[in-house]
Amino acid sequence: MTVANEPAGYTATQILLHWVIAALIVLQLILGEDIKPAYRAFSRGTEPAAGDIFNANIHVYVGLAVLVLAIWRFAVRLMVGVPAAPSEESALLKRLAAAAHFLLYLFIFGMPITGALAWYFNIRAMGEIHELAKPVIIIVVGLHAVAALWQHFFVKSDVLVRMLRPAGRRAP
Ligand code: HEM
Ligand code: HEM
Repeated sequence: MTVANEPAGYTATQILLHWVIAALIVLQLILGEDIKPAYRAFSRGTEPAAGDIFNANIHVYVGLAVLVLAIWRFAVRLMVGVPAAPSEESALLKRLAAAAHFLLYLFIFGMPITGALAWYFNIRAMGEIHELAKPVIIIVVGLHAVAALWQHFFVKSDVLVRMLRPAGRRAP
């Protein structure tokens, strides 16, 4: 039986937001170092080079875009819910997937917030948490992606397909 918070699949909006946010996070991880020269200069009280400010602005605005999209995504999740884990999946795997999804949400909210606190308020400790999170995110996203591909190619569940193809015609 399908209950209100366990729809048959994801909506087109949820799928689009998942992949746009994923692409922007990967971009941020690759280009993250580019904000450091400007951040160091501001922290020292010196004027950064124009190119460094340009690079920093890209990191800041792409990161803030992730925060806006994350809020939108979470609101959609509250409104339409997410599909249940595949019934054939063991209780342990269901818990691991739920834990990974919780951590991924923590990152898409936590990274822009810690970054903004470091950048706009010069709170160094936030900058350090922001930096320390980088390898953790790479590991969690890596495991999440491997798990999705493993589900698709070896377990042959519909988990990857349902994050590619919207289910039915539900709003939003
Ligand atoms: C999706 C969001 C974000 C991701 C994934 C991300 C990722 C990263 C990465 C990978 C680094 C370099 C870490 C290193 O070299 O070890 C970095 C540095 C930094 N980011 Fe972000 N970032 C995000 C959003 C933001 C936002 C929105 C801001 C500011 C408004 C920001 C401000 C900073 C600052 C100030 C640093 C330098 C920190 C330091 O040197 O202590 N980030 N970020
Ligand atoms: C930074 C990158 C990523 C983030 C932040 C992220 C985040 C999430 C989150 C939070 C969910 C839970 C569903 C929801 O509440 O909306 C999810 C589901 C999913 N993700 Fe990702 N993801 C990322 C990258 C990837 C990649 C690279 C793949 C595939 C290779 C992938 C495949 C999936 C699949 C198949 C689901 C559906 C799982 C299910 O329905 O049980 N994700 N993702």
